[in-house]
Amino acid sequence: MQMIRDCFKALRGLNVAAVVMFAVFALAVSFATTAAEALAGNAPVADKKGSAATSKTASKAAANVSVQRWVRYPATPAALSPQAQLGKQIFFDASLSASGKMSCASCHSPEHAYGPPNGLAVQLGGPDMHHPGTRSVPSLRYLSFTPLFSRHFYTPASEDTEDEGPTGGFMRDGAAASLHDQASMPMLNPNEMANRNAADVVAKLQHSAYADTFRKVFGAQVFSQTDKAFAHIGEALEAFQTEDVSFHPYTSKFDAAMSGNADFTAQELRGYALFNNPDKGNCAKCHLDMPGPGGRPAQFADFSYIALGVPRNPEIPANRDPKYFDLGLCGPYRLDLKMETGFCGMFKSPTLRNVATRSVFFHNGRFHNLEDVMRFYVERDTNPGKWYPKLANGKVDKFDDLPARYRENVDLADAPMDRKLGGKPALNEAEIRDVIAFLKTLSDGYSVTAGGLKAQVR
Ligand code: HEC
Ligand code: HEC
Repeated sequence: MQMIRDCFKALRGLNVAAVVMFAVFALAVSFATTAAEALAGNAPVADKKGSAATSKTASKAAANVSVQRWVRYPATPAALSPQAQLGKQIFFDASLSASGKMSCASCHSPEHAYGPPNGLAVQLGGPDMHHPGTRSVPSLRYLSFTPLFSRHFYTPASEDTEDEGPTGGFMRDGAAASLHDQASMPMLNPNEMANRNAADVVAKLQHSAYADTFRKVFGAQVFSQTDKAFAHIGEALEAFQTEDVSFHPYTSKFDAAMSGNADFTAQELRGYALFNNPDKGNCAKCHLDMPGPGGRPAQFADFSYIALGVPRNPEIPANRDPKYFDLGLCGPYRLDLKMETGFCGMFKSPTLRNVATRSVFFHNGRFHNLEDVMRFYVERDTNPGKWYPKLANGKVDKFDDLPARYRENVDLADAPMDRKLGGKPALNEAEIRDVIAFLKTLSDGYSVTAGGLKAQVR
């Protein structure tokens, strides 16, 4: 996964990108210098991209380029389109569920960055609100740049085109090609909003207070064709999630710091360096923290699929059946890649923006605080006995949430998961605290404006 490098290569040909890149290098290097001062000896952040820039040229560059320009924050649309306004009403409308008690917002809570409102590994839904789901609820923020799902992702225009593996798509297994396709899934999922079919949903909407608006936006006869009306519901939900600034506010301290409107504390800066250091956290390899094409702000995800070998979670009722396994890309929910056994166990890397506001982590919600997530990352291989149960013969059942034949799919190559049994974890407890301090800078709400404004901070 050479995405960052390739990305920069791809940008090199573009004129607009030159300015952005210039600023990126300047900032990355100046941060690396400060971070290195604070750390005395951590690998400079800029090394990752093989930048030849020295701190001398960097400070010159910094003097020439306004750091505000290094990221282009999207302009906020003046008002929601009529479709998006409808989408907003649908998103919060519990009358569209079989129970009459569940809307999209029940699981994707706007007060929790559109993530789960509680610490449950899986939410309860269905007609009686007692049916447990099988996966933890992801945040709906920062999905806009999700690429189409592809089994073999090649970064466009890179010199040494390299297969990045499966990438993109919506849901933790990429099963939905678009946000409008995705919308039908929770509406019809028997553990969620539990409608029997599309006609059921359309009939409910026809009785809602905004049925007339729906007719105005999508045509007077819209309710006479169930499939069309159902598709329009998806389009409205997609418009809301794409247009409304609450889904991509970019108001974190990270964004403010990147635009020159805030300063990281010494601890946050140490965490930032560890997050990027390929021998330490190496987090940025998958949770990209550099601007994307055209200077778009860092998304903290590369949308790729990796098997991390997260331990089985007894809190999920489906896991009481020892024969049940959630294999992500290769099933049981997504069916088209069933035969691609090399993909079994792989789940999409989620954005880490707002991750500190969650209390349930990974696809199976196995962990409930960031400390445990971090310790799992660095001790999975050095001390597996701490994370996995023991078999009858006393051996540790490493990667116990996968059938034995798929355990070879688990990533053993990327730091911090490249360590040996009994070895030293890539991060110590103090360093874990530093990384978490940095992760906390990714929570929106630090400033009022995308990228932050000094006058409005705090
Ligand atoms: C009962 C809880 C629940 C409800 C209600 C619910 N969702 Fe979800 N949502 C989930 C879970 C769990 C996932 C992850 C499922 C998976 O990966 O298979 C998810 C995934 C998603 C995703 C994909 C996110 C990503 O990272 O790719 C989107 C988009 C989404 N939901 C939108 C909606 C919309 C729109 C509604 C209302 C129509 C809705 N959800 C209702 C639980 C819920
Ligand atoms: C090789 C790629 C890779 C590396 C390196 C990596 N991650 Fe992840 N990360 C993932 C994937 C894939 C998932 C989703 C796994 C799942 O759900 O089973 C994930 C999930 C997470 C989650 C859970 C987020 C949520 O919403 O549930 C956190 C937190 C996280 N990573 C933090 C980190 C930190 C901090 C580092 C560095 C110490 C790191 N990751 C390194 C790929 C990676």
